[in-house]
Amino acid sequence: MMSGKAEAAVDKVFVKEMLEAFGREALEAAIDTKWAGKHICYFKELDSTNARAKQEADNGAAEGTLVVTDMQTAGRGRRGRSWNSPAGVNLYFTLILKPVYQPDKAAMVTLVMALAVAEGISLTCGMEAEIKWPNDVVVNGKKVCGILTEMNVEHGQIQCVAVGVGVNVGLQEFPPEIADKAASLEAECGKPVSRAALAANILKAFEKYYESFLQELSLSCIRDKYNRRLVNRDREVRVLDPQGEFQGIARGINEFGELLVERDDGSVTIVFAGEVSVRGIYGYTV
Ligand code: BTN
Repeated sequence: MMSGKAEAAVDKVFVKEMLEAFGREALEAAIDTKWAGKHICYFKELDSTNARAKQEADNGAAEGTLVVTDMQTAGRGRRGRSWNSPAGVNLYFTLILKPVYQPDKAAMVTLVMALAVAEGISLTCGMEAEIKWPNDVVVNGKKVCGILTEMNVEHGQIQCVAVGVGVNVGLQEFPPEIADKAASLEAECGKPVSRAALAANILKAFEKYYESFLQELSLSCIRDKYNRRLVNRDREVRVLDPQGEFQGIARGINEFGELLVERDDGSVTIVFAGEVSVRGIYGYTV
């Protein structure tokens, strides 16, 4: 017979193994959706889940197919940057969509995913997760997730939208250039986080919000929820616009996902994501 202490130690090992389990089986067991992530393409290693997702879509993969990997050798970030993607610690996935709407609507999907990730993190880790416009998810003011949406368009029609999500779950060390503004979930919440449960919670929320988005092809359905999580809301921000930098108070997004920034004279400037970055006046978020 095992002593109480020995039993507790076995339980601990069991829970740890359960939380660390990651791969097709763990994901299939955790994901409870109608279509988002119902079909999973899992790989131990990939160059980039976004690149692979676009190939899978070209080869006939259905809407909702999820491309997931344990590590990326050429993870892509926004603006041509790379995304640090070591093995065994983080979450990297791309969801394939095959919509009939016009290409100019696709940028809004990234904001839908940002809200889904923030909610998924809150539910899985039991802590506050905020959004830095347009689509970084931050915890305690530090970035824990990036989203990169890419699409294939032919003759003006979308062939596929690939919504790529990278979440720092257990990463301990960051490259020096981002060490002061990036963090991982486990470091912030102080306990182990199941990557499979996190993916499942994100996909469940995404499916719900994306279906509402499709009704109106606008973000009016999620605008309030998104704005409540906006880290800079009602705070002074610096808008780094290639046409000229300016400061103002961020008042939240409109139904198209553009940021409304109130200037000193009371006028409101509508900021479109494109080439523009928004920062806190002292640093990344505040
Ligand atoms: C950013 O720069 O903030 C966006 C980072 C997006 C990274 C994810 S990881 C999964 C997917 N595959 C990629 O190559 N990039 C995205």
